[in-house]
Amino acid sequence: MTNNKRGILDMNAFDARQQESISNPLLKRRTENIGAASVLFYKQPIEMVSASGCWMTDAAGIRYLDFYNNVPSVGHCHPRVSAAIAEQLATLNTNSRYLSDVTESYLEKLKSTLPSALKNVVMTCSGSEANDLAMRIAKTNTGAQGFIVTSTAYHGNTEYVTQVSPSAFKNATCPDYVVTVPAPSSAAFGQDIATGFNQAVTAAIALLKTRGYGIAALLCDSIFSSDGVFSGPAGFLKPAVETVQQAGGLYIADEVQPGFGRTGDCFWGFQRHNVVPDMVTMGKPMGNGYPVAALVVKPHLLASFCHDVGYFNTFGGTPAAAAAAMAVMQVIEQEGLQENAKKIGAYLKQQLTQLSETDPRIGEVRGAGLFIGLDLCDPITAEPSASLATQVINQLRDERILIGAAGPYGHTLKIRPPLCLNLEETDYFIEAIKKVLGRLPS
Ligand SMILES: Cc1ncc(COP(=O)(O)O)c(C=O)c1O
Repeated sequence: MTNNKRGILDMNAFDARQQESISNPLLKRRTENIGAASVLFYKQPIEMVSASGCWMTDAAGIRYLDFYNNVPSVGHCHPRVSAAIAEQLATLNTNSRYLSDVTESYLEKLKSTLPSALKNVVMTCSGSEANDLAMRIAKTNTGAQGFIVTSTAYHGNTEYVTQVSPSAFKNATCPDYVVTVPAPSSAAFGQDIATGFNQAVTAAIALLKTRGYGIAALLCDSIFSSDGVFSGPAGFLKPAVETVQQAGGLYIADEVQPGFGRTGDCFWGFQRHNVVPDMVTMGKPMGNGYPVAALVVKPHLLASFCHDVGYFNTFGGTPAAAAAAMAVMQVIEQEGLQENAKKIGAYLKQQLTQLSETDPRIGEVRGAGLFIGLDLCDPITAEPSASLATQVINQLRDERILIGAAGPYGHTLKIRPPLCLNLEETDYFIEAIKKVLGRLPS
């Protein structure tokens, strides 16, 4: 079976060429309004109208268990977060050029979760903006231009971060100043992932030097989500990070996916690897749906960047953004969501691993906390099977479960439910995946 490489936006995507065969006036309006930039999930797109906890409800009243969404990370429409946003919007919301106790209190709270060397925070509206700024700071401070990313990485949508997002390309490749390394997988590096990944990064640094760019930064999603979810063994990033820093480059930890307690053991994904980043970027779950993101950085790096060029972000860190983000932090703490991610995630992973032992269509099951990747394979050749993944995803939808795909071919199920997932919901998913696999040819 041949697998074609698939970009991040092709995963479980609606094929616009099928537009005519679907009679849905809302779909037609969407295509007319958004045109070629319209990206929708599922062969038959779904109109969602409401959500609560881990469940979403469509226009026909059908409820779906959301096993994919790390934006409403503390649960869809969490009443406490919604109330905090509404209250702040009704009191004051203005651009970020006024003093605001709400914002400073949040930043102090956020910094208390991070290494003490990371003392400054620049708030933005999206993870892309945070990564874009991180890259510019890396370039200014190192005097180098080269970046190292993994081969199916995604870091955002500005021009600069698109260049370091190979999984966003449809008909292009990374520019010369970007060198990709394989994701830290056993498939690429065997048993000693730490050494293999470090060797790949060492070679990438040498290549960037030969090309005349030097090394500005290693930029990694700490859970390698678009690469297919690679979380272990804990610590595998450390040698590569040390190599980069010794070569004069910086290490940017992209926490847009794993941050805010999702991986269970730690609040941030990089903490699994016992490393201190030079910069950390974050977004998605930070405001539980309210657009808020940030770059956390060592002060001297930010100071030398701001010496040459100013940075201002109108909506970054407004009082409403800070109120949303503070409420998210409080909910994580008060509802014990990091602990829940650890406990429920361990149970889920154990159940899926057990299933993989008797079903040759399931390859590796990887992950930490409530971030799990499950490879689907051809049972005879053990090759990745994107077509099986597509069938499983669509049949799970029929079982009222929403799930996505990752990896270079889209053969990895990306399992990433809200952190408030309970045992009953977990069992509902396990029974459903057993049922779906039971129905498909083995
Ligand atoms: C790892 C990672 N970094 C950055 C981004 C970009 O974040 P945003 O869509 O908020 O710009 C994403 C988005 O999916 C991401 O997955």
